[in-house]
Amino acid sequence: MVWLFSAILGMAMLVSCSGESPRIKTVEPRGAAQAGSATIEFAPPSLETIPGSQLGEQTRLGYQIVVNTQEYARPYVGNRLNCTNCHLDGGLNPNAASFVGLASVYPEYRTRNARVNTLADRVNECFERSLNGRALPPDSSKLRAIVAYITWLSEGVPQGATLPWRGFQRIDSRRPPDPANGKKVYASKCAFCHGSDGLGTMGAPPVWGPQSYNIAAGMARVSVAAAFIKSNMPRSWGWSLSDDHAYDVAAYMNSQPRPDFADKIRDWPKGGKPADSPY
Ligand code: HEC
Ligand code: HEC
Repeated sequence: MVWLFSAILGMAMLVSCSGESPRIKTVEPRGAAQAGSATIEFAPPSLETIPGSQLGEQTRLGYQIVVNTQEYARPYVGNRLNCTNCHLDGGLNPNAASFVGLASVYPEYRTRNARVNTLADRVNECFERSLNGRALPPDSSKLRAIVAYITWLSEGVPQGATLPWRGFQRIDSRRPPDPANGKKVYASKCAFCHGSDGLGTMGAPPVWGPQSYNIAAGMARVSVAAAFIKSNMPRSWGWSLSDDHAYDVAAYMNSQPRPDFADKIRDWPKGGKPADSPY
């Protein structure tokens, strides 16, 4: 258990270090909002306070799966990504589709499949699309563990609350994205870590190619990728690209080859497809 504890401590330090970077300043206004009469703060509990109970064990396992999906959920993963590569810092980063509070907003209706989705359904969508893998069975202990972790991160957030930090802070570009300029931005700001071929390096995951997210993933939409990149990339230098450059590089990245998703024909059965869906 010592290794587990030090991994958690390491993560806690990582999270507190990120508090010094400028992106947190920009996000502060998102950190507090009204839901009914209560103010909701982005105040996730510290990982060391996960209780020693059986539920606590499940919660810790959920955290491990999120940060090391490759090892802990191998049979369900079809590429080289871990959840934490996008849901940064184990889902504790308010700029990167944080998991904090999510148990209080699900179940939720989504137009992509035109039905009410549980939190477990939504987790499985990322397994199938972002990880280009397959859904965990509904009774899977691993699926329950991820849900337990997110539920623990949602304690104290009232059901149905509006989370100001939810998803990514969306940005606008003043002109249509220019993938040719994006290629230049990629070469100067991204290739060092993600590789000039986009296939990833020892230090960073792939951003296209067979080991990347598939075309039906949220990240495959240019507006979503641009928002993620703006506030988080280059890693540790969030908010350093202009909005236009974030869009350009997102358009370039998403114009590169990546796995298909056969079930995409079932998406948005009742309409509502976003304008930048790649299919
Ligand atoms: C200093 C190294 C570094 C640079 C430079 C960098 N990244 Fe990343 N990037 C990372 C790391 C590391 C991760 C995974 C983060 C984690 O797990 O905490 C990541 C994650 C990502 C992801 C989500 C995971 C994936 O692979 O799909 C995308 C998309 C991405 N980066 C795009 C970019 C773009 C575009 C640029 C250039 C504007 C860029 N990155 C620059 C290190 C870097
Ligand atoms: C390639 C990047 C990527 C990876 C890897 C990834 N996700 Fe996601 N995930 C996203 C994006 C993008 C969204 C949509 C965020 C948005 O549009 O606001 C999302 C949404 C979610 C949501 C819903 C968030 C909300 O606000 O409703 C959950 C829960 C989730 N992911 C869980 C996971 C889990 C668990 C894993 C690992 C098994 C994972 N994701 C892996 C990119 C990723």
